[in-house]
Amino acid sequence: MWVISGIPSATVAAASRHGEGGDVPLRNHKHGWSDKYYSTVWLMAGYTRYEIYMTGTGSWNGMNLTRVLARTGRRYLAGPDQDFVLRPATGFTPPAVTRAGLYLHIPFCRSLCPYCPYDRIAYDADLAEPYAQAVLAELARYAGGEHKIQASSLYIGGGTPTTMLNQLGPMLKGFHELFDIAGEVALETTVGDITPAVVTRLRALDVDVLSLGVQSFDDRLLRAIGRIYSGEAAREAVSVAQAAGFQSLNVDLMFCLPGQTVPDFLRDLELVAQLGVDQVTCCPLFSFPYSTAGRSQGLPELRMPPPRGRRVMYHAMHAFLEGHGYRRVSVWGFKKGQGPRYSSVTRDEYVGLGAGAGSHIQGLSWFNTFCVPEYMAACAAGRSPVALSMAFTPAMERSFWLYWRLYDSSLDIGELRDHFRADAGKLWLLLAKARVLGMVREEAGRLWLTERGAFWIHLLQNEVALRAVDRIWGVCLHDPWPGEIRL
Ligand SMILES: C[S@@+](CC[C@H](N)C(=O)[O-])C[C@H]1O[C@@H](n2cnc3c(N)ncnc32)[C@H](O)[C@@H]1O
Ligand code: SF4
Repeated sequence: MWVISGIPSATVAAASRHGEGGDVPLRNHKHGWSDKYYSTVWLMAGYTRYEIYMTGTGSWNGMNLTRVLARTGRRYLAGPDQDFVLRPATGFTPPAVTRAGLYLHIPFCRSLCPYCPYDRIAYDADLAEPYAQAVLAELARYAGGEHKIQASSLYIGGGTPTTMLNQLGPMLKGFHELFDIAGEVALETTVGDITPAVVTRLRALDVDVLSLGVQSFDDRLLRAIGRIYSGEAAREAVSVAQAAGFQSLNVDLMFCLPGQTVPDFLRDLELVAQLGVDQVTCCPLFSFPYSTAGRSQGLPELRMPPPRGRRVMYHAMHAFLEGHGYRRVSVWGFKKGQGPRYSSVTRDEYVGLGAGAGSHIQGLSWFNTFCVPEYMAACAAGRSPVALSMAFTPAMERSFWLYWRLYDSSLDIGELRDHFRADAGKLWLLLAKARVLGMVREEAGRLWLTERGAFWIHLLQNEVALRAVDRIWGVCLHDPWPGEIRL
């Protein structure tokens, strides 16, 4: 139980049901496809037996390989003096921000999904107003310059931001007073929160892009992961959101769900295409040791769905979506048409507000306390809500930049050269290897990941992201003001 200061005890009790209320155990993760089928599909897709072996079967499996590759790659790019350590940041003052992407974290959900690794707690109406006040107080910590701060976009994520529909207006007003937001305002929510009245309110608040967490349209799979709506309700929610006229509607799907087959996943993708959704983001189910899913499965360490299962599904997804007019816009995301691309994570420099939000500006990363009551107490008392920070060396900064550009799945060659000016030899060698291995192709001044490259990068990013998330979230979800965390 957290030690909380300055917040009424009923509020504290409600908020400290962190990650517990509403959780149901996940069923075991099993895949029923035969190895022969995997191998045939992948050989036909042009993958070598070596790749199939190294990412799929045997005692030296894909997770081991990607772990070694991720560590070697980080050491190669970030250099021997890398110091990826988050340290306590008492009394932290943010650096002057002149331009950034913005993120706002709303930690409330009406039901807590067992597999969810994020900083979220059961919704309590009594917490909504104090949380909004805390966000406004945190915003004030960035004020003081003569001009508004240039912001590329604002992304409101969670949790489930529509739980705070009544407070979104004042919070957005606070953001617009301080920042000149050039691009889109995007917000994510879940199926159960979508009604015609809700989407009308969101449009009235000038939300441009909506992301809807559907996960699957299959009732059996939804039940298996503890989602509390039906496939029919998900289809209805997509239609309601489309009718509201957002500039873009993204649908989140998950794959490698317990008991899901390739045809099951293809049926979900077919529905997305039939419904005319313009963007779809598909992630495999991640199991984090610290989440309920991790605990209920007794995972001794990070364990993802088996790489060979992910590989078959990744290829099926790629082939299906590209065949239906979607283009890859990130390692996980595919888009059709011209609306703004929906992405929560791929900004160079960003400022995050709210409990558990992370920021990265001018070689410095920091994280707010993940504990909602502590976050509110700190902001209400005029104290910094920042719990941890980490300074980047120029080489660490370069590798961090490259990591996110690879996530985008394409990058400007001129920008790449600029960033690696001090390390041109390393860059040249890396690119030469990537070309020989068929991971990248060059077109119109940009490098694009090929499907093979995207698959390998997705494996590497799983490893890096899951390791970082597991270390940071695993500690911060239980300790509001942690000590050092070595990544
Ligand atoms: C944090 S949720 C926020 C949106 C909303 N609360 C919802 O659940 O629909 C954003 C997305 O994260 C993804 N997600 C959450 N937990 C995940 C996990 N363990 N593995 C893979 N994706 C996950 C889901 O696709 C979800 O739509
Ligand atoms: S997946 Fe979405 S609704 Fe479920 S607990 Fe996580 S943030 Fe909340």
